[in-house]
Formats: sequence, structure tokens, C-alpha cells
Amino acid sequence: MNRWFILVVIAIAACSTEKKLTRQEITSPDTRIQFALILDQGMPKYTVHVDGEPLIKPSALGFQFRNQSELSGSFELIKSDTLELEETWEPVWGQENSIHSHSNLLSVKLKELSSPQRQLILHFRLFNDGVAIRYEIPVQEGLDSLFITNELTEFQFAENGKAWWIPGAHKFDTYEKLHNKSLLSEVDSANTPFTFVTEKNRYVSIHEANLTSYAGMTLKRSDEDSLTFLSALVPWPDGDKVKTTAPLKSPWRTITIGESAADLLRSRMILNLNEPNKLTDVSWIKPMKYIGMWWGIHINKYTWVQGDRHGATTENARDYIDFAADNNIQGVLFEGWNKGWERWGQDDALELTKPYDDFDIDWISNYAREKGVSLIGHHETTANVISYEQQLETAYAYYSKLGVPAVKTGYVGDIKPPGQLHYGQWMVEHYRRVIEMAAKYQISLDVHEPIKGTGIERTWPNMMTREGARGLEYNAWSEGNPPNHTTILPFTRLLAGPMDYTPGIFDITFERYKKENRVHTTLAKQLALMVVLYSPVQMAADLPENYANHPAFQFIRDLVTDWDETRILRAEIGEEVTIARRQGDEWFIGSITNERPRELEILLSILVNRNMVAECYVDGPAAHWDSNPTSVHVGYYLATQMDKIRINLASGGGFAVRLRPATPADRELPHISKLIQDQKEMRNK
Ligand code: NOJ
Ligand code: CA
Repeated sequence: MNRWFILVVIAIAACSTEKKLTRQEITSPDTRIQFALILDQGMPKYTVHVDGEPLIKPSALGFQFRNQSELSGSFELIKSDTLELEETWEPVWGQENSIHSHSNLLSVKLKELSSPQRQLILHFRLFNDGVAIRYEIPVQEGLDSLFITNELTEFQFAENGKAWWIPGAHKFDTYEKLHNKSLLSEVDSANTPFTFVTEKNRYVSIHEANLTSYAGMTLKRSDEDSLTFLSALVPWPDGDKVKTTAPLKSPWRTITIGESAADLLRSRMILNLNEPNKLTDVSWIKPMKYIGMWWGIHINKYTWVQGDRHGATTENARDYIDFAADNNIQGVLFEGWNKGWERWGQDDALELTKPYDDFDIDWISNYAREKGVSLIGHHETTANVISYEQQLETAYAYYSKLGVPAVKTGYVGDIKPPGQLHYGQWMVEHYRRVIEMAAKYQISLDVHEPIKGTGIERTWPNMMTREGARGLEYNAWSEGNPPNHTTILPFTRLLAGPMDYTPGIFDITFERYKKENRVHTTLAKQLALMVVLYSPVQMAADLPENYANHPAFQFIRDLVTDWDETRILRAEIGEEVTIARRQGDEWFIGSITNERPRELEILLSILVNRNMVAECYVDGPAAHWDSNPTSVHVGYYLATQMDKIRINLASGGGFAVRLRPATPADRELPHISKLIQDQKEMRNK
């Protein structure tokens, strides 16, 4: 479903002050969040209170440069403007079909008191769900080239709390880490979204929005104060953080604030801080489910390289396209289709327009078109970005000619040129060039080893999904992801936007291929993850033969990936998540737990007002992620809006349900109250 974008901006109240004040205040529209900018002896500092209680104590703002003196004061305030902004807009795809944005904006213009009297504009936006801060350095005399060596933004948290974090990405140049859980005061560096719960039970996440022509921000705890975090930008090889010219508009520094974990999942502040859709024709941007030989390669059934076990052969391609067409799956991904994989690790870039001899791409693309299936192309760059930039236009033109509507990209390894990092400004600009090039050829993107999401999919809706965390692939060749990993991801990585986690594994232990590795969930949880971990381009990752005759595969056939409405029913970081998503008159619910088994109740009156069939896929008797992961009960039940669904989640388990309006043909189905008993005894259907 493609939706045209509508934008309504109402400037409800605007006012401007030119008095020389040293304190400026603003609140969120509901007044619960209070923000102040203070000029402390000319140095700008901000504070945030929630319901009158301090959340952020006076925290510095400013810059250091290589080519000029620090820009952090002493300033005078020469102008301040406030504006109330309210708009409702429709995303091209997403977790809902309409997004409301309401905020108060304060913009203050500062001027240095002494020579060179440089100017700095600070913008603050207060939403009911958080605070955003942006720097603007306007064009001014004597200030054209800017070499930022340090952004001085501080976050001085008023109280300690529990944090879930991965280390500051520039240290390892990857986001693919398991989370640490510790006190805020024990974190040394963190990537964003950086999420914590304060002692007073406020749920907070620090991130950024609209990262454009700037370095990615990580956080570093200050040596001086255990609760103060500093912005640490990912550097260029020479140590500069940002090389630019005025005017400069920084990304927004964001502080999402909620009273519950669910509030964090409900926030759309990051998207609301991005610019409207730039694409006029969006008819080619298609949410979809996809399959591919991908998992088969990771578990060693297939290879990327041409040879005996080559995955991307014409024959396999035909089988995958047939399977997709027969099972309501819209896309098929091909990795290892192009020449060069045999040189992996030797620093040579892959050839992005040269298929292997056993992959007849012309025949395959025609066949896919006849069958109504989309091919998803693959550009593994091996992080040789110089080579990718050289091939960029021809590589997208090539796929476009073949009618390929989506491409997965990848950046495994150290970036070439050496010294550049995945999350520095040079790469941020590269990733954006790729999005614009893909848009030119009407191609959507799924980026692996990406820069983190900062909501730019609002502006470039062909930037559909990305990896940028430890995905399911780790289960194929490492100790894997423990059961709680996916109960943390929604509150950290997924706050940045859709994720291509690649769930959907049915053969949990894949012993035929690899005895030493396995997935650490139950089968039902794999289905639930397809709802919980939002991606408009969602993979059903397992081998078709593991799906073919399995009753639980019906859930994947029925699932959609673009929603009218999303409701968070239960959420606790690292513990459990239950999300209901609606398209038309059907709801899909996914519920997951960590190692702890749980009993849940879902009241249907909060979702529906008619008789429904609940098609349930839930952990079966004695299910357990470790000892009995594939025990799954599939049962279809009748329910009214007055009923509740009661179910048990196994350790590392889950529950997936499709709720569809009941028809007379369904009248023989058992009542939903039977589910919990059937689940224990597994009296299927
Ligand atoms: C890492 C990606 O995350 C994975 O999905 C892909 O298969 C490999 N790189 C090869 O490109
Ligand atoms: Ca990866």
C-alpha cells in the first residue's frame, strides 16, 4: 500500500524577543517536560525537568575547531523565537498510516561578546515524548571552512539508573555487539540509541535525528562526573570530526522520555524531526516479505562462491521464485550471484554487474517478472567504498534495467580508504549518496553494516530497512544471540528505525548442517519476532524445505509488513514485548519473552469490536528454547470482543496470532478459552 504524503503545519503561536535575557524557558505542549537554556557567565547550558523533577542538570553546548577558537561562550543572547508546531503526516510505509507531531520550538541566536563575535543559533524542540537540540552555525564573515574537532554537548543526568548499551561504535567500528546491562555510572562509552531507566522510573533514550553531512554521535562518560556523558563524534583519519562550511545544521540530539518502556516504543519523535518526503512518485516503493538462499549460505548448505554448493544458480533461483510465488512472498534475495566472491579477503572489490556463469540473470529476471516476484539484488562492497563509488551508477542502472526494485548492500570489513570508519562523516555522506542514487533508479534499500537509522526514511522512503545490530546471522556461526537479546533490541536499536534482523527460523538447531551452532529461541518466538521487530522488508529466513509442510508457515504466508496502526500491549526492557499491529480489519500480534516463562492475557476489547477468529501459533507442550524449541501448537479459535486470549510463553518462547473477522464458515471452531489447555496438550486445530 502506498500512501501519498500530506503535510499540515500550523504555526499556532509565534513570538520573538530581542531583550538581552540570560534564561529562556520552554515546555512540551502538555507542559510535563520543562526545558531551560541558561547563559552561565555567557556559556550556554541547558536543563531538562520532568514534572518538576530534574532529569538533566546544567549541561554544556558548543564546539571546538581545528582552525579557530572554541565556540562555547562567552555569548550574549541577541534574539529568541518560539513557535508551536503541529502537523499530521502520512508515511509511505510504516508502523501506522498517520503520524501526529506536536512540539514547541525555541530558537535562540547567540553572539560572542568579544572578537571575532561569531554567531551560533541553538534550536530546541519539546515534544510530549522528549527533547531535541540542534546547532546552527550561520554564514558569517571570517567563518567559512569549519573543521570540528569536538562537539561539546553534555548530558549531565540528575540520577543514576539501569542502562542497556553497546560500546561506543568507533572503538570497534561495529554495532554488532550484545548489550551490556549496568548502572549508568558504570558505562564508559555507548552507541546510540542509548537507553536507561532512572531510579525514579523514567525511561530515557539518547539518540540523534536527521544525521546528514555530519559524523555519527556516540557517548562517552566524563572522567570527572560519573553521571555526565559527552558527545563523542566518530572521527576522520586525521582526527577531525566534521569538515564542512557554514551554514551548518547539526543533526538533532534527542532525549526520548517516557513513563514506561512501552512509551519509548510509541515515540515517533525521531521521524518527526526529519524533513518531509522528497520523492514525488513513491509507487515503486513496496513493503514486502522476502526469502533467499541467505541462511543456507550462513549454515554452509550453500556457498557464495561458484562451485559444487553454489547457492545463486539459475536452477535454485527458479525454485525460490516458485516457492515465493506459491506462498504469498513478494521478494527473493540473491547473494553470491556476482563475480569476485572467490577473492574475498584479498582486498579486491566484487564486480557488481557481472553475474557468475551459472546464474542466468536475464532468464531469472524475466521468470520472476512472469511469476510476479521481485528480485532483491545484492551489493556486497567488502567495505571497499572507493570501488563501490566507482561502480555506483552502473551498478544501479544495471539492476534497474533488469527490473530489480530493491537492493541489499553490505560493508563487511575495514573501510577502504583505510582509516575511515563506518560511522564517520565520510561514510555518512557515502550512505546518503547511495540512497539518492538508488532513488534515481527507483530502487529501495536494505543496508547491512549501515550507519544507524536517524529517521531519514521519512525523507527518503526508499531507505526501507537496515541491519546495524547483532542480527540472527550470529546464531549460524558464533555462540549466538541469547534469548534476551531480542527483548532488548526493540528498546535500543529498533528505536532508530526498522531492522532487517532476518527472523523466521523453523529448524532451530539445523544439525544437518552445523552441529555446534543453533538459534536460542522457540519456533513460536521466531514467528512472533516477525511482528515485534518491525521491518517493511521482512525476511522469512529459513530454507523453503523447512517451511513447506509446516502448519506454522501459514502465519508467514498471511503476514503483512505495512501497518495502519500499532499498539504496544506489554513491554519491559530485556524481559518481554507484546505488540499488536493492524492492517485493515486484521490484527497480527507478536509476543516474546526472555529466558523467563510467562502467562499472558490479551483483552480483545482493546483491539476489536466484533467476532474474530484467532489463528494462534504458540509454544507447545514442554516447549523450551534450549531443550524443546520446536514444540509449537497451531490452533484456530473463535473469540468475541469480550474475550481474552490466555497463553503461556515458554522460556525463550513466543506467541504469534492473526486475528481476522469471523465468517459463518468458522462457527465450528473451538472457543478461545480452550487455547491454554490445547497449548498444554497440543490438540491441534
Ligand atoms: C554480512 C551481512 O549481515 C549478511 O547478511 C551477508 O550475508 C554477509 N555480510 C555477506 O554479504
Ligand atoms: Ca552483518
